[in-house]
Amino acid sequence: MAPMPGPSTQPWVEKYRPRNVNDVASQEEVVKTLRNSLETGNLPHLLFYGPPGTGKTTTALAIARQLFGPELVKTRVLELNASDDRGINVVRTKIKDFAAVAVGPGVSGYPCPPFKVLILDEADSMTEDAQNALRRTMETYSKVTRFCFICNYISRIIEPLASRCAKFRFKPLGREIMTDRIQYICREEGLSLDDEALNTLGKVSGGDMRRAITCLQSASRLFGSRISSENIISVSGVVPDDVIEKLLTSCRSGDYDKAQGTVTDIIADGYAVSQILSQLHDEVVRAEDVTDEQKARICERVAEADKCLIDGGDEYLQLLDVASNTMRALCNMPQESTYV
Ligand SMILES: Nc1ncnc2c1ncn2[C@@H]1O[C@H](COP(=O)(O)OP(=O)(O)O)[C@@H](O)[C@H]1O
Ligand SMILES: [Mg+2]
Repeated sequence: MAPMPGPSTQPWVEKYRPRNVNDVASQEEVVKTLRNSLETGNLPHLLFYGPPGTGKTTTALAIARQLFGPELVKTRVLELNASDDRGINVVRTKIKDFAAVAVGPGVSGYPCPPFKVLILDEADSMTEDAQNALRRTMETYSKVTRFCFICNYISRIIEPLASRCAKFRFKPLGREIMTDRIQYICREEGLSLDDEALNTLGKVSGGDMRRAITCLQSASRLFGSRISSENIISVSGVVPDDVIEKLLTSCRSGDYDKAQGTVTDIIADGYAVSQILSQLHDEVVRAEDVTDEQKARICERVAEADKCLIDGGDEYLQLLDVASNTMRALCNMPQESTYV
């Protein structure tokens, strides 16, 4: 058996995962409903959706633990995430077997309602067939089982499942809440972050607490207990602003060779092109000296390139194409004909 990770190697996202639903920051609506469930022992089927790192998995695990206590949770709760096989056969066998078995007696000190909880994390990665198979299981065993679906995109959950659940949207966490939590972790871990570094951490994580905590831990491993804004940038995967600025300047020059040179340099430096596209997009949208029409031309091409990258397109060619189209837009040259 692999040894349990010691306290120093334990990922901070696990170490600082709230164990109690009351400690889940910012998601008031769901916390209120679940607190009520803990009092009455009554739980609806749940559907949690929203962007990553906002507390969905945390909340589901916490409510499970609080309903059943640390021992009973092992038999009463089944958690399946994307790394488990959840094809249609698993739904027909494993999930059904779990749902079908009657529940045993509870233990004192916890509500222990007479049902089991099935947590399906990252449910939007389940095929539609598997979801359809679940629908029957859900109908048949709803007396003894509660389902908790977790996903980023609610539109990928089939309507017959979604309509049976109480739906809760998890919002990106506000800057202040992030900062509070990060400062708490810094105190616990003996780190010092100045205001600029805190601000940068808030900016690069964009409301995703997992990302913020992971960045903080990487930075502390690499740079020790005093962490600067530059340290955060260097572990965050965010591209420094001057790289984006240089790309835009070379596009503004209208000199194709210059733009191509910049693109070659960026690729040679190993920056992730999808990250460049995202920051380029933000920069262009914010720019005051770019007209709406120019912005539209650039953003459309950025979106296409982003899609191509997801589909396995070549980073250099996509960035080059974006740069060339950005140049055309900024210098008011006619649009290239589409030949994709
Ligand atoms: N609302 C929140 N309050 C407190 N911590 C949070 C919150 N959301 C996320 N976190 C922290 O971020 C990490 C990832 O949260 P998780 O619940 O796994 O996110 P996801 O929404 O992607 O399932 C956890 O370690 C947790 O400590
Ligand atoms: Mg999750």
